[in-house]
Parts: sequence; C-alpha cells; structure tokens
Amino acid sequence: MNTILVGAQWGDEGKGKIIDVLTEQADIVVRYAGGNNAGHTVFIGKQKYVLHLVPSGILRRNKLCVIGNGVVVDPIGLVEEIEGLKKLGVKVNRRNFVLSETAHVVLPYHRELDARREALKGRNLIGTTKRGIGPAYGDKAARVGLRVYDLVDADRLKKKLSPRVRENNRVLQSLGGVALSFERVYAEYLAAGKYLKPFVANTVVLLHEAMRDTADILFEGAQGTFLDIDHGTYPFVTSSNTTAGGACTGSGVPPHRMNRVVGVMKAYTTRVGEGPLPTENAEISDLLHGMGREFGATTGRPRRCGWFDSVATRHAAMVNGIDGLAVTNLDGLDTVETIKVCVAYRQGGKRYDFVPSDAQLLAECRPVYAEFAGWREPTDQAKSWKQLPANARTYLKAIAELSNAKLFIASVGPAREQTIFV
Ligand code: GDP
Ligand code: IMO
Ligand code: MG
Repeated sequence: MNTILVGAQWGDEGKGKIIDVLTEQADIVVRYAGGNNAGHTVFIGKQKYVLHLVPSGILRRNKLCVIGNGVVVDPIGLVEEIEGLKKLGVKVNRRNFVLSETAHVVLPYHRELDARREALKGRNLIGTTKRGIGPAYGDKAARVGLRVYDLVDADRLKKKLSPRVRENNRVLQSLGGVALSFERVYAEYLAAGKYLKPFVANTVVLLHEAMRDTADILFEGAQGTFLDIDHGTYPFVTSSNTTAGGACTGSGVPPHRMNRVVGVMKAYTTRVGEGPLPTENAEISDLLHGMGREFGATTGRPRRCGWFDSVATRHAAMVNGIDGLAVTNLDGLDTVETIKVCVAYRQGGKRYDFVPSDAQLLAECRPVYAEFAGWREPTDQAKSWKQLPANARTYLKAIAELSNAKLFIASVGPAREQTIFV
C-alpha cells in the first residue's frame, strides 16, 4: 500500500503528527517536495521534534527515510538537522536515511535573493520563510541549479559553483546586497557535501527495488494545497508542487503505483505568510494564540487563523484525489460556543462553490457560513469515536461531507495516542 499524504489547506495542518502515526504501518517514508521552509512537529511523550528536511518517519525504528529528487536541500541546514536529531538520541545512519543524488541544492545566494526580493516588494511581499526556496526552484527550472551529485564531488562543485557565485553576486549587488566570497561558500559547502556523501543514492532505483520487494511507502507532503505553485493562491505560494501529483514527479514513483491519498486538515484554518484567507477571523485567532497555539514551527511567526473553509478543502479533495481525511486540532475548538464553517464564497453578487484561481478575486470573496453548536468540553482524552462528544462527531461528519471526502482520522492532541481512527 503506497500512501500520499498532503496538506489540504495552507500548510501546518499537522502532517508531521499524522506521518508519525501512519509510519507505523509503512516501510519507507519519502519527502517529495519543498525544502527547509517546512516545519513538521512530532511529539513523543514530552519530547518535541521539529523536522524540516528529514522525513518525520525518522522517529520510528527500522523505517527507511528518503529525501526525494523533488526536494530542494540546504546542505548546511540538513547537517544541522541530522546533528540536532542525534543529540536528541535519534539514530540517523546509512541504513535509515537516504538523500537523492538529483535533489537540488539551496545555496547562500538563493537565501540572499529570497530576502532581497521580499524587501523590494514592500507591502506586496509574499512573506516567505527566507530559506531561499523560490530562487532554488527558479534555478532548477532555468537549468542552472546544482544537484546533490555536484555537491559531493569537490572538482565538480568548484567548477559549477564558481560561475554561479559570480553571476549571482552581480545580481545581488544590483539589488543593493553584498557579494559573497566564493572561497568561503565553497569551503562551507564542500564540508557539508563530505558529511552528506555517505547518504547519497539513486533514490528512484532504490524505491523501485523496494517496491519489487513489496515495501509500503508513505509519501510525506510538505506545505499545503493552496501553497502549490500551480493550484495555490499564486503568487502567494511556495515554488513546488505540494499537491499529490508532486509525489510522483518528486520521487520517480509512477501514478499507477499510488494506492491512496490522505489529506490532512485542521478543524479550523490557518495560514502563515501573506495572501488571501477568506475565513480569517480575529476571535478564533485570539482564542488560539491565547492558548499558546498556532505559532510557526519554522519561523515562529504567529499564524493567521480562521474558521474551517470547506470551499477550500473541497477544492483540495478534488485536486489531490483525497480518499481519506485526517482532521487535526479538533481540541482547539473545545471551548467555542458556536462554530462557523464556510460553505461558499460570495463576491460581487456571485456565489462560488470552488476556489477562484485569481488570488485578487479570492481576496474579495466573503464567506457564507453555516453554524454548528460547539461541544464545550475537552476532547483531548477521547480514545475512540464513541468517546467524542455528540456535537464534535456531528461537526466532523459535516466538515468531511462538505469537503467531499471520507473521514479517516480525528486528532485530539499532538501526541501519537491522541489519534482516533474512524
Ligand atoms: P505540519 O507542518 O503540517 O507538520 O504542522 P506543524 O507541525 O507545522 O503544525 C501543527 C501543530 O499542531 C504542531 O504544533 C502539532 O504538534 C500540533 N498538532 C497536530 N495535531 C494536533 C491536535 O490534534 N491537537 C493539538 N492540540 N495539536 C496538534
Ligand atoms: P509545512 O510543511 C506553512 C509559506 C510561507 C509563505 C509561502 C512562500 O510546515 O506545512 P517559501 O519560503 O516557501 O518561499 O514561502 O509559503 N510556507 C508555509 N506555510 N507551512 C509550511 O510548510 C510552509 N512552507 C512555506 O509562509 O507564505
Ligand atoms: Mg509546519
């Protein structure tokens, strides 16, 4: 059974937690898109782990974790992350971690360009994570990027990096930035390449060999449907295909080998960064922030919060072909008296039952709400569907139906045990 797991909203849906839960049944976990803009949180007991590039499956024993070809890898960030995990007692070695030789490398000029371009946009900024993701994917598409196999070969690195630093320094200087020292960048990346070399492999062949041996693969999506470069709220998106199709191109596993798609979504909506968010609401934002929740796992920024948007999740179910929904953070609504759910948008006298492609139009859309009675009791101790309050069950069933997908998991807390299979 090969499963693609995607975010059905604007990222931070709780993918890390659900990946950790589903990894129990899998042999291999593959990250297929994005870079260290992602922050996937997993709690094991009281210990918190935030994964940025390493698949969240790393926290379980005897699972192979793969960074696929579709990911952009910041080698310095990756080395730090591996070292950080080791300090926490997590084993990362050649037997449980593999890095694709064709993944693209994020370099310092990508990060600098990301920051400079954002600064130049002024009020129209995207609110990126400043991890260099856009410029790195830009170089990949422009066919001037460096791949992991370039990074781990000293001569090739020198030959390929030198003209890139030279060109990017000119761009950076013209944008008011400071030129990078080639020698410094080279030395730093050479060292990271040396560290990572033992992990590097042809992951496409590796995955196909594993499938021949009937391995079950879990594909770990990063970001969310509305941050997808094609299907998201462009230009307020990231630079990769975060939706289910990205799992095929980002890993080399073909579509007919995929068996199901799990869509993760919160019981409400959040977004970090700029761009339209039709159900954004101060009341629920204050409530969640007041509980110390909804601060970014990568940048620490407070996330924008709103009511559940079923127009968006229905659209996500359509684009990703979601078979099963994992609804997280149900417990975030435990104290709310009347819960609103957006069932359609209205703009200029017109009703929309899907998410308009034009972000400007979407920004003008006003939500049409349905209301649900809250349950006003804690759900975080519930162990089964039956133990959930009746109003919570009604709410979950309603948002699944409105999203046009089947309810698979309800999550009532960050821990593994706080997971209810429906
Ligand atoms: P991801 O990027 O999709 O992996 O999500 P993040 O880790 O960035 O953000 C999700 C946050 O919600 C994390 O802090 C998780 O620990 C937390 N979380 C996940 N599921 C639940 C849940 O059901 N209840 C609560 N209270 N927190 C949850
Ligand atoms: P996970 O995997 C939430 C957002 C940024 C910004 C936009 C572009 O943890 O769900 P980028 O740095 O990618 O160029 O930023 O995308 N963004 C995320 N928001 N969760 C993420 O990842 C995100 N990765 C990028 O905030 O709005
Ligand atoms: Mg996150």
